[in-house]
Parts: sequence; structure tokens; C-alpha cells
Amino acid sequence: MAQQQSLWSQSVEIPARERLEKDLHVEAAVIGAGMAGVLIADRLKARGIETVVLEANRIGSGQTRNTTAKITSQHDVLYDALIRKFGRDKARQYAQANEQAIRAYKELIGERGVKCDFCEGPAFLYSQAAAQPMRQEAEAAASLGIAAHFTSETELPFSVAGAVRFENQARFHPLKFLKAVSEGLDIYEHTPVASVDGNQIRTENATVTARHIIFAAHFPFVNVPGWYFMRMHQERSYVLALQCDWKPRGMYYGVDNDGLSFREAEGLLLMGGQNHRTGENSQGGCYQKLSDRARELFGDCREAARWSAQDCVTLDGVPYIGRFSASEPCWYVATGFGKWGMTSSMVAAMLIAGEITGEPPEWAEVFSPARFQLSAAAQSLATETVQTLKGRSRELFSIPQTTLDALPAGHGGIVEAKGRKAGVYKDETGQCHVVNPHCPHLGCQLEWNPDEKSWDCPCHGSRFSYDGALLDGPAQTDLEK
Ligand code: FES
Repeated sequence: MAQQQSLWSQSVEIPARERLEKDLHVEAAVIGAGMAGVLIADRLKARGIETVVLEANRIGSGQTRNTTAKITSQHDVLYDALIRKFGRDKARQYAQANEQAIRAYKELIGERGVKCDFCEGPAFLYSQAAAQPMRQEAEAAASLGIAAHFTSETELPFSVAGAVRFENQARFHPLKFLKAVSEGLDIYEHTPVASVDGNQIRTENATVTARHIIFAAHFPFVNVPGWYFMRMHQERSYVLALQCDWKPRGMYYGVDNDGLSFREAEGLLLMGGQNHRTGENSQGGCYQKLSDRARELFGDCREAARWSAQDCVTLDGVPYIGRFSASEPCWYVATGFGKWGMTSSMVAAMLIAGEITGEPPEWAEVFSPARFQLSAAAQSLATETVQTLKGRSRELFSIPQTTLDALPAGHGGIVEAKGRKAGVYKDETGQCHVVNPHCPHLGCQLEWNPDEKSWDCPCHGSRFSYDGALLDGPAQTDLEK
């Protein structure tokens, strides 16, 4: 079986940094040393702003190491919907921001000579089911200034009804890039933030006082103000790195329900798919389904790596980047990047560094976290509310799925133990790992994810290992054992 670790993690080791042990006074403090946090800090430093970065774990240890690392302005079928829901001006802002972000990566990599396998090429959306939505999306994107057109010709090993081709897109090795860019920055690792109060950030051993505080740790862990947990959900998707003969020059993203994504990296084919809302994979089998599909398409191919990604999705599909909340004027946020974390990270860096230095980009408004377009968000808001109620009522009314004795080795589930519900994983040796299956964020009942041997929250997407260690927020603590 291939290692359950991303291809990127297998080839790059980023040098360790110290834990923060003393109080600091700085101009800006960034929470999170993933791609967004590092790029924001890099831009601020370049503009003369003294900045520190606080990372709960290691540099790039969150979603940056699990991306497929495409740098594109092509974000699923989006532009046609943006024009209808936001209007042409805002849709153009989104297009401009992302096209600028691609160029900003290219410039930074060129100026500093960063060796990160940066490679330009076209990106394609494709559908095997219907040509018309592809045609409309191509026309919408082109009308906003993107070099895009409709085609039915691709390199894919199957026929498509239609595709949208974007020119001048790019891909890279995210950890090679992150390692190089983070080198000159003041970053403290193993320094989780316990609380933020006005201009002060408290960690276990120190307090950081900063004029500007930027939340760039994937999902903001502060519930109020901001209310981001009510305005986003999280999704998971799965990737295989395959040794096979077919390697595309372009990058591909399938828009149908069972659509697959493809790109080449390090001589391997990356094939992704099997998206689902976090907390909704109780049957498992996502890796297996991807493997079966790979065999159908490419015959026997060796699997060099497999991994999964977790993405925050906003109500209207546009990230929240800018002021965190009207009541906290010195806080900024960068979140809700969907599957487009690399490009959105650069957008966040340009926007937040611009706002802090009094020169916001002309396209900033479309990303404003203060926006609420009822027409764009009503359906999603209703879905989020129902989902949270479902998660909460599952806690009260669902019956435990099995008993401890009946749970087979290598499986997990909710069982009844001593008159209470318990989350149990019985490992291959028969040893039981028991946790309280209620999410410490807001109390929803967790679901067992057999593909990752993790406890996942269907409400806002927090995740925990089989023995209760926190993997993904917004929860901030481990599960009770
Ligand atoms: Fe909010 Fe679990 S992540 S209740």
C-alpha cells in the first residue's frame, strides 16, 4: 500500500523553528504558517512592516502539504454564476485578482530564483455530460478578460462533451516554494494560539502585542465576532500519485458529480476526486473507488502516494479576505479558499498587505468578509443551518450503531458503553481506543471516517485522530478520552 502522505511531504523537509517563549511587541502578527500566512508575512516584510508568524504545529503542516498545487484563475464553473449573482464589476474583480496572483507567483519565483518546479500551461474544466455549461463558462470568463475558450479537444483518455481552456496558468511544488519563501521570516513553531483579545495574542508561554493581527490558519477558531463557522463548511477530497504512461501537459478538473482532476508532478500522474462534505464518509471506500477508476483508465499503475485534503467552502463560493469584523478593527482574516488555496493565498497576501499599508488593490471589494449577497447565499445558508441541526440532533436522538463486542478489529463507530455513547476504534490487535464522540467546538456528534481512521464533525468540519488528537479546526482542543 502507498504511503498515506502527500508527494510533496515526501520530498521536502523544512528546517525546524523555535517555540515562542518570550513576550513580543510587533507591528503585525500572522496566525498560521501555511501558504497564506507565509505569503502575507513575506509581503508585509517587503513593505517594511515588522511581522511575526505563529504556527501551532510546523511550517506548511496544514493544508498546504495536501494541495494539488495548481495556480489558476479557473475555479470550477464560477464566472457565469458570479456575473449573474454579483454583477459584472465584481466578477471582473475576482478574475483580475486571480490572474494577478498567477503573475505575482511567477515574478516572485523569477526574482528570487526559487527552485520549486514552477511550470506554466493551460488549465481545463471538462464535462462528459453536457457541453452547454462549458460553453457558457468559457464565454463568461473571456468576457471578463481571461484568455479562455470552449473546446472539445483535450488530452484526456476519454471523450468529453465540452471543456473550457484557460491559457497561462501554472503549477509548482508547494513545499519547495514554501521552504524558500519562509527562510527569511520570523516564524515560531509549536506555538498554538490560546486566545486573541484586542491587540493581544496569548500563547502557552507568551503574549504577542500587535497593531495588526491576521488570522490565516485555514479556519478561524474565534467563533464570535465574525461568525465564520455559520458561513462556511468543510469538504474532503482524495488524491492518488500514480506511476503510469499517461501524463498530461495541462491541468484538468472534472465538473460532473464523479469528476476527476489530473495534473503531472515529479514524473507521476496526480489523480483526485471523491469529494464529500467532512463528516459524511461513514461508509468509506474513497481511495478504493479512485484506485478502481485509475485501473479502468490506465491499466496496472503503481501507486506512489495517496493523501486527502480539507477545504473550507464559503456560502457564495468566494473567499473571505479582509477585515475580520467591524468590531475588531485591527483583525484581518483569510479563509474559505475552497479548492483553490494556492492562488487564493497570493490574493490574500496582496489584499491584506495592501489594506494594512493603505494601498488596497482595486479588486478588494469582492472578497470583503462583510459582504452578504442574499441571492448568492440564501440556499447555502439554509443548508448550513439544517446541517448543524442534523449534527446536534444526531447527538441526542441517534442510536449507537453497534456494541463493543460486535465492532470488528480495524473498525470504528459509536457504541453504547456503561449507558453512554462512546466513540470507539478497535485497532488491528483488538485494542480499543475510546473517545467522547462530541465535538468540543459546539457539541455536534462526530462521525467515524474509515478511510482516514479519524473522527470527523459534520457540522463545521473539525477532525480528530482515532485516539482523539485534534487534526483540523475550528475546534481547538483534543477529544476527551
Ligand atoms: Fe463545529 Fe464540530 S466543528 S461542532
